Amino acid sequence: MIIQHLELTDFRNYVSAQITLTDGVTAVIGDNGQGKTNLVEALSYLATLKSFRGVPTEAMIRTGADTAVIRATITHVDGREVLIEAELTRTGRNKVLVNKQKLAKSRDLLGVVRTTVFSPQDLNLVQDAPSVRRNFLDDALVALWPKHDALCSEVERVLKQRNALLKQSGGRLSPDIATTLDVWDEKLATHGTQLGDVRAQMLEMLLPQVQEAYVELAELNEDQTPVGMVYAPEWRTQGLARCLSECRNDDVRRGSSTVGPHRDDIELSINGLPARTHASQGEQRTLALALRLAVHRLITTEIGSPPVLILDDVLSELDPHRSAALLRHFPLGQVLITSAGVLPKTAHPDFSVHIAGGTIRED
Ligand SMILES: Nc1ncnc2c1ncn2[C@@H]1O[C@H](COP(=O)(O)OP(=O)(O)OP(=O)(O)O)[C@@H](O)[C@H]1O
Ligand SMILES: [Mg+2]
Repeated sequence: MIIQHLELTDFRNYVSAQITLTDGVTAVIGDNGQGKTNLVEALSYLATLKSFRGVPTEAMIRTGADTAVIRATITHVDGREVLIEAELTRTGRNKVLVNKQKLAKSRDLLGVVRTTVFSPQDLNLVQDAPSVRRNFLDDALVALWPKHDALCSEVERVLKQRNALLKQSGGRLSPDIATTLDVWDEKLATHGTQLGDVRAQMLEMLLPQVQEAYVELAELNEDQTPVGMVYAPEWRTQGLARCLSECRNDDVRRGSSTVGPHRDDIELSINGLPARTHASQGEQRTLALALRLAVHRLITTEIGSPPVLILDDVLSELDPHRSAALLRHFPLGQVLITSAGVLPKTAHPDFSVHIAGGTIRED
């Protein structure tokens, strides 16, 4: 799948801008604060229906405007063209049209466009809080199997309701609270267990790819398997229903859910040592890159064509050695590389565009 054309209206600092893209590597060059990451954010919104920066929709609408529109034409491998129009509103009621037909649910767009974004933040994937690795895994899940977006949202919704009830209880487990908690616990146990199962399945599929990517990026011998990746929350062995009932008194006292998929982590290790606390900064960064690269490759093999690869300012954060290794090991496809300065020679851009103050100039 290739993104051929992109048009932005009132998106971030773009009043109205458009860009024609092709297969191959496009360099997106511009000074700080001109709109490079905003462009990346718009492209990845089409793939995930959210900002990869983790901000609410409202932040993506240009200050002073009511709605933002992202319009894109994409071409599939078989030559089929699809027109996508996404309208972002301040109320959060976003609308998506595909070939001028309104989608019943915006999330039906998931899977039509796929992107892999590398940003400097990603380099902290290994050392950051567990939520970052959880999100990484869930994003990978949804990118590969879009239907799991509904599962992730359902778990989130049930947890929100359960936590609201726990807060409302004021620390006392009255019979009324207990009856309502039974309902939420059952829902959380069902959907949470499903989420745990698919997370485990995803991790199993990813591990050999991460292993391979790490060996390539760190230029180790092919037969080495230094990376460990474990997803084994205690609640999965004991059963979530049982854990929830055991923690009930504690949860009521604290006013929050202390056990469940929302507290999961992926334990990463290099040569048997926990990566978060023992790996060097260089090893942590290489592992972070390997994790993203692994998802990109897994999707490429499972889907049969690579997602659009976007490297947002990430090359400037890497030493020449690692950035060359990263560029060498990507499956070919459409690639966008943003940079505030000159790109490393190894990037070999086929085209360049320049961004200044929310205007795009194609060379
Ligand atoms: N909702 C919005 N409305 C108007 N302008 C916005 C909005 N959100 C962000 N901006 C502006 O967009 C600019 C940032 O753009 P962006 O993050 O794309 O920069 P960049 O080119 O990636 O810069 P850097 O090289 O520093 O990463 C800022 O000047 C910011 O004020
Ligand atoms: Mg930027």
